[in-house]
Amino acid sequence: MELDLSGNDIKISDDINSWEEVNLLYNAALKQIQTKIEILNEEFQEVHRYNPIEHVKARVKVPESIVKKLKRNGYESTIENMVRYVNDIAGIRIICSFTSDIYRIAEMISNQEDIRVLTVKDYIMNPKQSGYRSYHMIVSLPVYLSDRIVNVKVEIQIRTVAMDFWASLEHKIQYKFEGKAPAHINSELHECAVMVANLDARMLSLNEEIISVSTEK
Ligand code: GTP
Ligand code: MG
Repeated sequence: MELDLSGNDIKISDDINSWEEVNLLYNAALKQIQTKIEILNEEFQEVHRYNPIEHVKARVKVPESIVKKLKRNGYESTIENMVRYVNDIAGIRIICSFTSDIYRIAEMISNQEDIRVLTVKDYIMNPKQSGYRSYHMIVSLPVYLSDRIVNVKVEIQIRTVAMDFWASLEHKIQYKFEGKAPAHINSELHECAVMVANLDARMLSLNEEIISVSTEK
């Protein structure tokens, strides 16, 4: 699909022709999002005197994983299918201190004019069966090339340090057992996930108490 912006030479397109172009565009989209997040974090620091974001990780999915995902979902390995069906070619993970920060960050990102939120999955309100908790958004944003504008999708995962700790270990375990971990390990992981949720809630309420004391003074 190509749309002509009337009176403008620049076209908006989702035409991506080669793997090199995929790489270029998704890297560009990640750079833009990272800069936006940095700016939001600095502004937040200025206003509220603390950094909601602990750190940010970004990656472009390696071609082998993209091909594997297409295959798993029954699609041929074409550039068109990659762009259409693989939503996490560009992925960014935002790690913050408190659960409340997650929703603040998600809202600040959604409020940006040039970012379109395509889907939201709130695995904090609705944890996965494994116990996994995180806030996921698929967004799209325009990347400006010399002759056209391409809307590029990015998967954003937002989670607390504690959720990230859990997810990293769980991922490592599932990888090791190729997704078929023994039942006692899965149930132990699930119990840990409940403890993590509890810890997040207690840390948040402690933090809120501290904030209310320091504003009273
Ligand atoms: P994928 O095909 O795996 O990308 O999942 P999806 O399209 O159903 O989307 P979903 O939002 O469920 O998951 C996207 C990403 O979240 C995954 O690629 C993982 O990085 C992460 N994720 C989802 N579920 C789990 C989980 O149970 N454990 C861990 N460690 N990570 C998870
Ligand atoms: Mg994925």
